[in-house]
Amino acid sequence: MTVCEAPGKVYLFGEHAVVYGEPAVPAAIERRATVTAEPRSDDHVRVEAEDLSLDGFTVEYTGGTGDRPDVDVPTPLVEAAMGYVDAAVEQARDAADAPDAGFDITVESDIPLGAGLGSSAAVVVAGIDAATRALGEPLDRRELADRAYRAEYEVQDGQASRADTFCSTMGGAVRVEGDDCERIEAPNLPFVVGFDGGAGDTGELVAGVGELREEYEFAADTVESIGDLVRTGEALLEDAVPAGDAAAGAEPSPELLAELGELMDFNHGLLAALGVSARSLDAMVWAARDAGAHGAKLTGAGGGGCIVALDASDATETALSFTQGCEEAFRAELATEGVRVVE
Ligand code: PMV
Repeated sequence: MTVCEAPGKVYLFGEHAVVYGEPAVPAAIERRATVTAEPRSDDHVRVEAEDLSLDGFTVEYTGGTGDRPDVDVPTPLVEAAMGYVDAAVEQARDAADAPDAGFDITVESDIPLGAGLGSSAAVVVAGIDAATRALGEPLDRRELADRAYRAEYEVQDGQASRADTFCSTMGGAVRVEGDDCERIEAPNLPFVVGFDGGAGDTGELVAGVGELREEYEFAADTVESIGDLVRTGEALLEDAVPAGDAAAGAEPSPELLAELGELMDFNHGLLAALGVSARSLDAMVWAARDAGAHGAKLTGAGGGGCIVALDASDATETALSFTQGCEEAFRAELATEGVRVVE
């Protein structure tokens, strides 16, 4: 039996603009999806998925990949998560050159689904890692990230960026620009996440920004401004942790937190100008700021889902939990380690 766990992520800066070739900086957070893979003697795949949402659904079915029976899954989001497991098994079979490998797979996750926290990427990364290791064919991290991206790409009909899967595989903060992904050193950033219980439609939101950008020059300028802001944020992180230094565990200076927070506020304003915020997200962003957070912004596609605030104090988490429209608030440290083997 092999057990692997992979982290979710927040966008520190740059979602939406990344679609137009600007850089973005996602950061892995200590909320993980755990996948257990046990090889079987036949070619069947049995998947048991627990706690795939904060409500804790349980889904179980038996079948072969690509031939998954019609099971009565409780929500479209859970159905989607099962699709990611199928795609992960397919990648593991291909990587290990074992097209008929069967598995008993268990998925557990404490990452809210479809809410901009990279839940599907974490399931795919942990799934491919666990299944290939169970077959005695572990992958190096670059190949794992690449195969996880391909799995997401397939499930999402070509609508996937490398950001989530790369970040979940490598951990820490990463820089994404087009197909180029690299890890960047970052100190121990203290995040607080607020979740409104919903999820925006990523395809619609991305298309909406595209239309605005076509119609208005200032919308195109806004996208470029987000790119400038990301470059400024990256430079701040680089100055804080010079290349080659071990950043893991280092505490960020108050100046760095203040400067990063200001950029996050700025980034939220620009995203709101592009029409991708929502009343619930704005309310949580303001509640976090009022509680003393260094900065706060929506994370991911927007329209609903999550905000991320930069703050180590409990005041932000408490304020969020009393904010109308906030269903769940939690502290989430930067996950310096990406996917890892648990057993
Ligand atoms: O909501 P998420 O975590 O899937 O992020 C979407 C990020 C976008 O930039 C809006 C789209 C993309 O594919 O990069």
